[in-house]
Amino acid sequence: MCGIFAYMNYLTPKTRKEILDLLVTGLKRLEYRGYDSAGVAVDSNDGKDIVLVKRSGKVLMLEEAINLACDEGKTKADSELYTHVGIAHTRWATHGMPSEVNSHPQRSDAEHSFVVVHNGIITNYKDVKNYLESKGHTFESETDTEIIAKLIYHLYREHPNYSFRELVEQVIQQLEGAFALAFKSKHFPDECVTTRRGSPLLVGIKTKTRLATDHIPILYGKDDNIASNHQEHRPRNNSVHDIPVLPRNDSTSEFMPVDDKEVEYFFASDASAVIEHTNRVIYLEDDDVAAVKDGLLSIHRLRKTHDDPHAREITTLKMEIQQIMKGNYEYFMQKEIFEQPESVINTMRGRVNFEQEKVILGGIKDYIPEIKRCRRLMLIACGTSYHSAVATRQLLEELTELPVMVELASDFLDRGTPIFRDDVCFFISQSGETADTLMALRYCKGRGALIVGVTNTVGSSICRESHCGIHINAGPEIGVASTKAYTSQFISLVMFGLVMSEDRISLQQRRLEIIRGLAQLENQIRKVLELDAKVYKLAEDLHKYKSLLIMGRGFNFATCLEGALKVKELTYMHSEGIMAGELKHGPLALVDELMPVLMIVLRDPVYKKCMNALLQVKARNCQPILICEEGDTETMDHSSKSLEVPRTVDCLQGILTVIPMQLLAYHIAVLRGCNVDCPRNLAKSVTVE
Ligand code: G6P
Repeated sequence: MCGIFAYMNYLTPKTRKEILDLLVTGLKRLEYRGYDSAGVAVDSNDGKDIVLVKRSGKVLMLEEAINLACDEGKTKADSELYTHVGIAHTRWATHGMPSEVNSHPQRSDAEHSFVVVHNGIITNYKDVKNYLESKGHTFESETDTEIIAKLIYHLYREHPNYSFRELVEQVIQQLEGAFALAFKSKHFPDECVTTRRGSPLLVGIKTKTRLATDHIPILYGKDDNIASNHQEHRPRNNSVHDIPVLPRNDSTSEFMPVDDKEVEYFFASDASAVIEHTNRVIYLEDDDVAAVKDGLLSIHRLRKTHDDPHAREITTLKMEIQQIMKGNYEYFMQKEIFEQPESVINTMRGRVNFEQEKVILGGIKDYIPEIKRCRRLMLIACGTSYHSAVATRQLLEELTELPVMVELASDFLDRGTPIFRDDVCFFISQSGETADTLMALRYCKGRGALIVGVTNTVGSSICRESHCGIHINAGPEIGVASTKAYTSQFISLVMFGLVMSEDRISLQQRRLEIIRGLAQLENQIRKVLELDAKVYKLAEDLHKYKSLLIMGRGFNFATCLEGALKVKELTYMHSEGIMAGELKHGPLALVDELMPVLMIVLRDPVYKKCMNALLQVKARNCQPILICEEGDTETMDHSSKSLEVPRTVDCLQGILTVIPMQLLAYHIAVLRGCNVDCPRNLAKSVTVE
């Protein structure tokens, strides 16, 4: 949902070309967040102006435009800049079509006094726009972001004695909605100011010598009433009146101590864009304003509440650069599918002790007694993460003996679902930033429920705002379509069920069977991946069709939903995951000899029912593709096309049946010429509601 990348080199000489390459590479790492247009802003050749280069389409188009600008001498590629601020953006359109004028950076005026990049949505932008228009500003784009550039310029002209950072603080008091912002201004050369509310943003720091500290103090403003007042300061209901300016927050001096003066700063929507430069990062919190002036970074907040900390920690990223590179694979998605033997092990590492057959989840262990006393478990998520909840619900009901509700975050919020203090709410999210999931988390937290985060992104909003949680440890997932995160979420929830049932004597046999099943998964996944060539053959048949129905029930119903989602998002073909029990209540009408159908029929407690569905489908002259158990010739005899997966415990079987579906969607997408890693109209991290 848009990626922000800003880079500042302070007393570290870089050629303009090096800086532009760095900005473009940063955007490429973030491209999965949005890829309909992109742009950069850097200093002009004489340093007196700001140059914007923007293009519709992928970052590659922007790169070509930049190279052309360098070739033509519009920006001098080889001139060396000792200190410089560049900001860059890759967009996923929310307001206005993808076009050059709607791309970011957005500017305040033709002279480029201020430029800004934005991730998120400003919900009161019309009111602010009306106000600014009444003050004589004219708008050129359809974006909500342009009001931010114009508003800061407006405030600058009214209050020329304010610092850059103070101006940004004034601006965010007027904004409603979600944002991460990075600003550059020709009136404040060599300064960069960034801020966030609701959208992620982190600061990477690179110095030649070791940092002298592992935290950075937060500087608070003086006016305690600001937070309660600022609502009234916003231009509302199209009313056009002056924006009362808040008292200055001129706290300075306590800058971050760096031993050497040469320093580089990276501001990015996520860690994958900075890891090749530095592993030292600070995750900004809502309403933090991070400013760099004279090469020194400071973090400010307008107001201190009683539980606000004194400092932000500088954390060390554990991620490796190879983890975000494609290696020998053609697409990230393909790499991530094939990484699953290792990623499932990483999810279990240090948690499942296969010798002692015990499971410990360090991130929630202190909360287990409280969870055991709860009234019900709620699993809340979106997209693929939601499917991991569907996949494990039955097992969690069995192992926890608690009612388990599975909810789509958006619908959960729409309904204003009743939540109580004795509810335990799980928020499952690969990115940890999905807006609907985060909103649902805040809703439940506000009602006193215990919040458990299940995320793949250390330092993400969901991770920080949960009381406790499980990191799925799947490693960075770049492909927009989630694959390895799903299997790791699945296993994380299974491990939770095992922890909850540790002292239930009646469940010991079942627990042991599952733990032994988990021990086999790595090798079994490798076996499933060997089906790749066979799946490709099926894809060759299927890719010309318009639709694919995927049927199953019980523990494998989630595979049908997830398989259909993969097919839809990657191939743009219609696909539907159908609960086989519902077949005769409607979907059977779709079935004839021309309709491609895939059925999952395993030797589990619903085998007979699945066979009934298979016979009903066959009776309509349809020849379904089957996913069934290795060696189950009796079932395979019903079809000329089948994929055999190894047998595991019924409740883990979904991990093995989903992988052929991931491969199938992948191959169909490639055969149809679709962009596998960046499907049209989608983004990996959906930080708008
Ligand atoms: C987007 C992605 C999906 C993902 C969903 C939830 O729609 O394209 O792949 O499953 O968001 O994301 P989350 O990060 O919360 O798991």
